[in-house]
Amino acid sequence: MILTTGGAGFIGSNFVLDWCALTDEPVINLDKLTYAGNLENLASLRDNPRHIFVQGDIGDVDLVRRLLQEHQPRAVVNFAAESHVDRSIHGPGEFIQTNIVGTFHLLEAVREYWSGLPDDRKAAFRFLHVSTDEVYGSLGKDDPAFRETNRYEPNSPYSASKAASDHLVRAYHHTYGLPVLTTNCSNNYGPYHFPEKLIPLCIHNALAGKPLPIYGDGQQIRDWLYVKDHCSAIRRVLERGQLGEVYNVGGWNEKANLDVVKTLCAILDELSPRADGQSYATQITFVTDRPGHDRRYAIDATRLERELGWKPAETFETGIRKTVQWYLDNQEWVQHVTSGSYRAWVGQQYGAA
Ligand code: NAD
Ligand code: DAU
Repeated sequence: MILTTGGAGFIGSNFVLDWCALTDEPVINLDKLTYAGNLENLASLRDNPRHIFVQGDIGDVDLVRRLLQEHQPRAVVNFAAESHVDRSIHGPGEFIQTNIVGTFHLLEAVREYWSGLPDDRKAAFRFLHVSTDEVYGSLGKDDPAFRETNRYEPNSPYSASKAASDHLVRAYHHTYGLPVLTTNCSNNYGPYHFPEKLIPLCIHNALAGKPLPIYGDGQQIRDWLYVKDHCSAIRRVLERGQLGEVYNVGGWNEKANLDVVKTLCAILDELSPRADGQSYATQITFVTDRPGHDRRYAIDATRLERELGWKPAETFETGIRKTVQWYLDNQEWVQHVTSGSYRAWVGQQYGAA
């Protein structure tokens, strides 16, 4: 048994779906179901006895304590977080609460549980913390990609809150010996990505005939990784990672935002052409830049590749095509998310609030 947190969100739900498809090991999935949590992502697991969903907060120590005692997991994988940079600029409070205070409470409950395990299970236990490349700050055009040894220089309330959580996780290893692992990954994309983030937002807006908003000059660079490759990296680190260590995860796919959006438009022009024969690229609109916008992220994933033998399966070209096709095939999912009706799913399916 493993326990995931935030497993109804974008990356967490992909992880849980893959986990249930690839292993026989049960997973207990604790998620608060904020606006970003969507049980429709996990609809295919509804009758699967190996997936146990629990609605709750990682900051609820009593709940986490109870779940750990009851289910005796051999590992915790912590995805739960507030994840959207723009929201952190408009309202940082929730980011501090979940990403910092929540992670602290989770660590406390896990430490208590882990301390009471018999020696063999104590040695085998893992706490894997899922983090981001944004903790390293912004790179100049010619700087080398982020290594695990880069100094932390977070620039947004989001990345600062993630950086704080990474430090707490590190401290719990150093001080208490908790067997932790941390992954710092670049921008993910793929199925079940909430349409507030660049790629799903632009696919949705393109098909809806709306503007495709490009912040500033659109020359900000991100490294893009297909979400299933992030999930395989997490599984690999969980299996073989060295305790207390950090692994950068990335796709070797640095792209300027404007190029990403032009690529989306070209694929949509081919797969779902506009009725008027014009390109979706005509909908590109430059808008006011994000305050404090980081210019460039790039990940050096050499350590994960060399020490743990991980490699991404998708290139950007194959992954982005799959992603556009997924959105075209799952318009109902998008419609439920954009209309807000996905939030009724919990009540319908689980009888919860
Ligand atoms: P997301 O916003 O899609 O999902 C977050 C999930 O966490 C949601 O299901 C939400 O309901 C849940 N949640 C939020 N607060 C909670 C709380 N207090 N208790 C329990 N559950 C809570 O995020 P995502 O994009 O899937 O990111 C998952 C993790 O990966 C985050 O920690 C994020 O920092 C990290 N990460 C994301 C990316 C990316 O590109 N999306 C890249 C690197 C790292
Ligand atoms: O780097 C990893 C991070 O990637 C994760 O830690 C975050 O959780 C995740 O949200 C993502 O952060 P970004 O800020 O990079 O993702 P977002 O999709 O919001 O933006 C990607 C880039 O596109 C960024 O440079 C801002 C820009 N952008 C974004 C939106 C939503 C636009 O130009 N227009 C937009 O409308």
